Amino acid sequence: MATGNAGAQHGALLLAGGGKLTVAALSGVGEEDLPWSLLSYVERTGEHVLIDDTALPHPFSSDASLERGRLRSVLCLPLVRQQKLQGLLYLGNTLCAHTFTPARLSLLGQLAAQATTSLENARRHAKVQRAEAALRGANDALTQRLEEQGWQLKQAQSRLVDAAREAGTAKVAASVFHNLGNVLTSAVLNAHMLREKVDTSRMVRLKQLLGLLEPYQGDLVGFLTRDPRGPQLANYLSGLAEELLNEHASMKESAGKLKQHLDHMRAILQVQQAYARNTLLPEECDLAELVEDALSIQLPALQRHGVTITRELRAQPRARLDKHRVLQILINLITNARNAMSELPEAHRLLRVRLDAEGSTARIQVVDSGKGIAEEHRERLFSQGFTTREDGQGLGLYSSSLAARSMGGRLTLASEGPGKGATATLELPLA
Ligand SMILES: Nc1ncnc2c1ncn2[C@@H]1O[C@H](COP(=O)(O)OP(=O)(O)O)[C@@H](O)[C@H]1O
Ligand SMILES: [Mg+2]
Repeated sequence: MATGNAGAQHGALLLAGGGKLTVAALSGVGEEDLPWSLLSYVERTGEHVLIDDTALPHPFSSDASLERGRLRSVLCLPLVRQQKLQGLLYLGNTLCAHTFTPARLSLLGQLAAQATTSLENARRHAKVQRAEAALRGANDALTQRLEEQGWQLKQAQSRLVDAAREAGTAKVAASVFHNLGNVLTSAVLNAHMLREKVDTSRMVRLKQLLGLLEPYQGDLVGFLTRDPRGPQLANYLSGLAEELLNEHASMKESAGKLKQHLDHMRAILQVQQAYARNTLLPEECDLAELVEDALSIQLPALQRHGVTITRELRAQPRARLDKHRVLQILINLITNARNAMSELPEAHRLLRVRLDAEGSTARIQVVDSGKGIAEEHRERLFSQGFTTREDGQGLGLYSSSLAARSMGGRLTLASEGPGKGATATLELPLA
């Protein structure tokens, strides 16, 4: 179009960019026949070059393509937009000199402006296309990487879940054994006491009595009137009856406690199953009753250690909680209190259990007069495995604190220092 409008036989559109000129379009001339020195000049200076007549001296006469003399007049226009050289429009007329008249030049100027715009559009379009292609490529790569990473994440996640499950199972199993151990100790002590009662039972006296009456078979009146022991028989029998009744009551109580221990052990195992299913089993419970249950489970051990127990149950809050978890926490706290006092003379072993409620929180405290807690141990009390006892496992506080938190409560342990006793506080939500 430019060549036609300008009356040119040679024409070329060149694009500037990246420090070089590239031929975008050619008309009537081969690339090798372009006056490259002239074109570079325009590219460099951004000024147009017009040679009206190549026959006359001109600055580019050394350029081979102009030398050949086939061209009569030459015009090269810089295509500038926003102060940047976009390209060059080159026109050459082989027929006559002075082809590029001012009128044609102005028309060419407009054409050049149009060409520049189209060039820029073309470039922009190409850029957009390139950008689009690059984006698409990047996007594909990203999608692929994301998919890979997603897969890796999923793998990692499932490994984590497995690990957590294993760790959780191991942890729960350890705390289950620990808790079972605590209750089992009480149960064994209780069973011993029961055994002792059976061994020393007055029941044998009844047998002795029967032996005494043997010679008077069929003549009980004779025994009562003639035997010197006769008159004492009634007293003896009523005394024995009372003792046997007491014995019976106490054995019944021990058997009841034993049953309680066994129930609790079964519950601990059930709790583990609940842990394994990761569900809680909340039920309406009376916290004062739970405190009493915990104390009675621990009673044989406490008694054996000569611990004096004081109850301060100031409230009787009810809450919806997993009762056996609360019981386990309390048993752990009482066991710890007992251990903390084991080096004191029996008369100084004092255990206080307090219960009160404030707002929507119930507070159970287990206060002991034991060895207290050294400053440097304070931070680690609740860490898994932390123990200062020779045969300790360091699981009691750890698992109790976890259990408290699982019920929306919390467990703390405070002490004014070594030798000053300790206070464990269990807070539980009442709502
Ligand atoms: N009532 C307490 N008085 C003093 N120290 C305590 C008390 N309760 C716990 N501790 C300290 O916390 C440690 C961890 O307790 P715990 O987790 O129950 O494990 P363990 O009883 O097996 O040592 C104990 O070894 C002890 O040093
Ligand atoms: Mg313990």
